[in-house]
Amino acid sequence: MENMLHLAPCHASVPDCFVVPPDQLPPAASAAVSLPVVDMSGSRAEVCRAILDAGREFGFFQVVNHGVPEQLLRDMEAVCDEFYYELPAAEKAHLYSEDKQKPNRLFSGTTYETGGHKYWMDCLRLAFTFPVGDSTSEWPHKPHRLREVFEKFAVLTRGVGMELLRLLCEALGLRPDYFDGDLSGGDVILSVNHYPPCPNPSVALGLPPHCDRNLITLLHTGPVHGLEVVYDGDWIKVEPVPGAFVVNFGLQLEVVTNGMLKSVEHRVMTNATLARTSRAIFIQPKEDCLVGPAEEFLSEDNPPCYRTVTFGDFRRMHSVVKLGSSSLNLTTNLKDIQKGMYQMN
Ligand code: OGA
Ligand code: NI
Repeated sequence: MENMLHLAPCHASVPDCFVVPPDQLPPAASAAVSLPVVDMSGSRAEVCRAILDAGREFGFFQVVNHGVPEQLLRDMEAVCDEFYYELPAAEKAHLYSEDKQKPNRLFSGTTYETGGHKYWMDCLRLAFTFPVGDSTSEWPHKPHRLREVFEKFAVLTRGVGMELLRLLCEALGLRPDYFDGDLSGGDVILSVNHYPPCPNPSVALGLPPHCDRNLITLLHTGPVHGLEVVYDGDWIKVEPVPGAFVVNFGLQLEVVTNGMLKSVEHRVMTNATLARTSRAIFIQPKEDCLVGPAEEFLSEDNPPCYRTVTFGDFRRMHSVVKLGSSSLNLTTNLKDIQKGMYQMN
């Protein structure tokens, strides 16, 4: 618990275990780029087309007019700030755990195995089922509005994700409920990522390059930059759009669409002056759900490019992150593992 970054009064220097060799930290190629913005209040046909176009070109896009009230987003930001800045350490000590199997916990770094390398992030990670029932009974009670605000945010944001999946089905010619049921029925994860200011942003990363392992992710970020995405072989910085969700496809969606939609690598850079907090909702399959390319995407000319495995097995095989193994040095070994795992004979 003492090693949590947000509890240290300030950091004079970056400890060695956080330092990434400079050749593995290529700078972003550009000034911040605005990801395509999908206005969900448009006609269904327009929204379908916009999601598919943005998804195919970038794998990442932002959605506005998504129906989650602005006030709730502001309350969510305020409660997250209270949790990290105001709640005394003693009140959160019981949440701290390095046990990756625990569904609800507070920790530093990533959920990947990193071989001891550390990342400049603290994380409050909470799981729930849908419908919620008593699945949030282990969630923290403090600050006092946390439960109420987190639950509302989590349920409504998951709802936006499910609607996006239905729109995608429509756009892709799948039946509208294709992703309902076990494919999206695993625990939903709410991750509150907190990146404190870092004394030397040129040597440490907030999150290593990775593809999300789930089905679809919705991210609410504040105004502070940090998220970078691979585009056309380079890293680009994402310009945050106030009130929007950043949406990206997880690897399970890449598998189901037989690679038509790609799960794109992203990373989080640190920053010397401003703390950054982001809130992510991860929708994922049930552990024992078999995920493979949908028949609708297969034909004699389009054989399956991915194996069909349970989501649980996928996660276990896909849990190690090691920087710098790619020839471009842009990415981690995750894509290689995926290739090895899926190699079709
Ligand atoms: C993640 C992630 C980005 C961010 O949690 O998987 O990519 O900006 N987060 O916190
Ligand atoms: Ni991610």
